[in-house]
This record gives sequence, C-alpha cells and structure tokens, in this order.
Amino acid sequence: MSITVSDLRKWKAEHRRFTMLTAYDYTTARWLDQAQIPVILVGDSLGMTMLGYPDTLSVTMEDMIRHGSAVVRGAPGALVVGDLPFMTYHAGLEDAVRNAGRFLQEARVQAVKMEGGGRVIDYTREMTGMGIPVMGHLGLTPTFVNQFGGYRVQGRSDEAAERILSDAQALEAAGAFAVVLEGVPSALGERVTKALTIPTIGIGAGRRCDAQVLVIHDLLGLTTGHVARFVKQYAQIGPAMEAAVRAFDQDVREGAFPTPEHEYSNTAR
Ligand code: KIV
Repeated sequence: MSITVSDLRKWKAEHRRFTMLTAYDYTTARWLDQAQIPVILVGDSLGMTMLGYPDTLSVTMEDMIRHGSAVVRGAPGALVVGDLPFMTYHAGLEDAVRNAGRFLQEARVQAVKMEGGGRVIDYTREMTGMGIPVMGHLGLTPTFVNQFGGYRVQGRSDEAAERILSDAQALEAAGAFAVVLEGVPSALGERVTKALTIPTIGIGAGRRCDAQVLVIHDLLGLTTGHVARFVKQYAQIGPAMEAAVRAFDQDVREGAFPTPEHEYSNTAR
C-alpha cells in the first residue's frame, strides 16, 4: 500500500513530522522508497539538477512526464507528487486541468504541485473537485525568479507575510492537501503551520513546519556551486563519485583493470 494524501492530513492531526525529497529518476526513487521516504516530489528543479538549465523556466510538461513516470516505477510505496512547470497552468484553467490530468494519466503521479496564490487558488478548487489532488507552494517560488529579482527570502514585511498566510488559508479552503513554504522567515513558517489543518512542508521556512523537503542533490552533496543556507548535506556523493571515476581511469591507463577475475574464458564456469 502506498502513502496517500489522507495519510498526510492524518499525520498533521497527530503532530507527526515527515519528510519529502525530490527525485527525478528510477534508481534514486528506488533508494528513497527503500528508505521509506513517504513523499517524493518530481520537482521542476530537474531543470537545474538533471538538465543543466540556469533555472526552472525552460522545463516542459514532456520533461516532467518522462522523469515522473520513471520515479513512479521506482517508488511504489511513496506518494509521488508531480510539479507542474512554468507555463503549463499560466494561460488558463483549461490548460491547467489538461496538464495536471496528463501528469496523473501518463506519468501516474498521485498529485500535482503548483506555485503561487491568486488564480492558482481557483485552479486548486477546480482540480480537487475533479479528483486531482493539489499541493500548494508559497514564499520563494522559483518560477517567480524574474518577478522577485533573484532568489530572495519572501514574507519579511508585515504585508507580504499576511499575503502568504491568507494565500495558504485560501489554498486549504480550496482543497489543497499540503502547502510547501519556501524561503520565508521561520516565524512566518510557524504562523502558517499553526493556522492550517493541512501540513506545511518547509524548505528554508524553519523547524516549526510539519514536514521538511530538500532537493536530493543538495542533501547528497551532488550539487556543484552555491549551496543555500537552508541545506544540510548528509553525504558527499559528488566528491566520492569523482574519486571513483578517477581511480577507474588510472587503473585502465596503468593496466590494473580489468584483471582475470573480470574476464571471460572460452568455457562457461
Ligand atoms: O522543484 C522543486 O524541487 C521544488 C522544491 C524545492 C519544493 O519545488
């Protein structure tokens, strides 16, 4: 049995903390599922982590469906959430519903995530009314990078904090089953968490959120370049990978690999 959106609501009522991690491929999803990570987000952060773009804006629905279906095949136990990328729900409700529906039908994710308040609240009401579970995402929403003038903490002024709080409450009223809070002061993270009956999932939103999410490349130490303040690196897989491939390269150049134990003879053994 896989985790469902009802489990997340129940955990909120029980004050049970939980985790969400991103994954973009089958193998990573297998390992996360084996570790019993309950929620896996196929994030549009794959634009940077998998495709090498400078931001998330160039990611397409086709990219998300291809990666999303691989993650679903690797994680039968987790609730897999697909991130609707930029311009897949911006032009209107019809587009939004069609793309969310494609995610469930073609990739077989169990829920979608959308960034922002405003019209997204109406879309959330429509989608949940049609059986498409929605996760909200407020605060430092990465597709707004050009609007924000960079990746800046949001909700620092009273007015901005009130807007994030009221958007979160409106998303809950519209039927969202959880809300990601990204890059906001921890006091605001706590306030929103206390105000909602659905879980908040924080990333740079402080320890009082009901759950925490990290990008898997950040957690594993695979990220090259700047690592944000809110990240904790639990491993250094990038440097370990570099050391392993350097050792392979050296072995081949020096004739130390392959050795007879890695070779086949004419007869079956
Ligand atoms: O795309 C993503 O990875 C995300 C998380 C940072 C929440 O939206």
